[in-house]
Amino acid sequence: MRVLGIETSCDDTSAAVVEGRRVLSNILASQDVLHAPYGGVVPELAARRHLETISDVVRRALLDASTTIADIDAIAVTRGPGLVGSLLVGVAAAQGLALRSGRPLIGINHLEGHALSPLLHSDLEIPFLAMVVSGGHSAIYLVRDIGDYVEVAATRDDSAGEAFDKGAKMLGLGYPGGRIVDELASKGDRRAVAFPRARVKADPLALSFSGLKTSLWDFLSRHGREFSVEDVCASFQEAIVDVLVARAEAAMETLGVARVAVAGGVSANSRLRQRMNELTGQVVFPPMSLCTDNGAMIAHAALLRLQRGIGNDDLTVSSRLPLGPRRDLPRAKARGAGAAAG
Ligand code: KG4
Ligand code: ZN
Repeated sequence: MRVLGIETSCDDTSAAVVEGRRVLSNILASQDVLHAPYGGVVPELAARRHLETISDVVRRALLDASTTIADIDAIAVTRGPGLVGSLLVGVAAAQGLALRSGRPLIGINHLEGHALSPLLHSDLEIPFLAMVVSGGHSAIYLVRDIGDYVEVAATRDDSAGEAFDKGAKMLGLGYPGGRIVDELASKGDRRAVAFPRARVKADPLALSFSGLKTSLWDFLSRHGREFSVEDVCASFQEAIVDVLVARAEAAMETLGVARVAVAGGVSANSRLRQRMNELTGQVVFPPMSLCTDNGAMIAHAALLRLQRGIGNDDLTVSSRLPLGPRRDLPRAKARGAGAAAG
C-alpha cells in the first residue's frame, strides 16, 4: 500500500510518500526564516506561506518517490491539533487532490503521526510509551494498539519546546532557540544556576514549564549582563531535561511498560538523548527527519490504520484534538500490556 501524506499543522509544509515501512519521499518546506524576526510562529503568515508552497511540495513528493497520483492508494492529511488556518490549507489541498484522482482521503491526528513514527524505523513492540516533545506539544502517550491511545501525561502550561524558545528569546539568542541553547549548554556548567523543577501536586506525571520561564526572567532581572550565557543555558536546559526524564521514568514505572520512544523537535536535544539513554529499558529516538513535523509520519499512521480497516473520513479541522482519553489506569500494566524486561 502506498500513501501520500500531507502535513501543515504549524509552520512546516510537508508531503511524503510511504509504502509499507519505506519512506519513498519526505519533502519539507520550513518557515523558520519567515517567523524568526517575530520570535515565534505568526499564524496568519504561516497559513499564507502554506498556501504558496503546498502544490509544489506535493508535486516534489510525488516526483521524488518516482510515482504519480494514479499509483497512490490513499491520501492522508493532518486535521489537528494545530493552527486552524494552517490545517485548512493542507485539508483543502488534500480534498482537491482526492476529488481529482478519486483516491480515498483519510484525516489523521498529528499526535498519532508522532506517536507511531518510531514504528517506521524500529522494531519497537506495542505497547510502548511515546513522549512527544515539540514546540506545540509536551505529552506522554501509551500506545496500546494502532488507534488505541491513552494520554498518560501532559503539560499544564508551556511545552518543552516553548520553554527552550522563550528562554532563548529572553537571552537574546534567536529563534527557534532550542538548538542554540543546546549548543551553548555544551560549553556551560549545568549546576551553575539552581532553576526549579516543577511538580504538580495533584498529578505526579504532569509536566509544567511556566515557573522555569519566570525563574529565568527573575535571574536575568537580578544579574543584568553579569553572567555566563553558557552556564545559564546549561542550567536551564538541565532543568527541562530533568523534568522530561523524570516523567518518562515515572510513566514507565507506573504503567509497567519498559519501552519509550521520543519524538518532536526537542528530541534533537543532545542532553535529553544522553539522559534518556541512561534509563533502564528500551529507548528509541527516530531519525530527526521523522521527529520534527513531517508528511511521512502522517502517511505512515494512515497506512497502519488502513491495514487494520480503521480509516477515518472525518476531515473537520481542530486546533485541539486529543489523542485518546486521559489516563485513568490502575497502577499495574495496561490491559495485559506486559512489561518489557530490563
Ligand atoms: O517538532 P518541531 O519541529 O515543530 C513543532 O513545534 O511542532 O519542534 C520545534 C521545537 C522548537 O521549539 C525548537 O526550539 C525545538 O523543537 N528544538 C530543540 C532542539 N532542536 C529543536 N530543543 C532543544 N534542543 C534542540 N537541539
Ligand atoms: Zn508536531
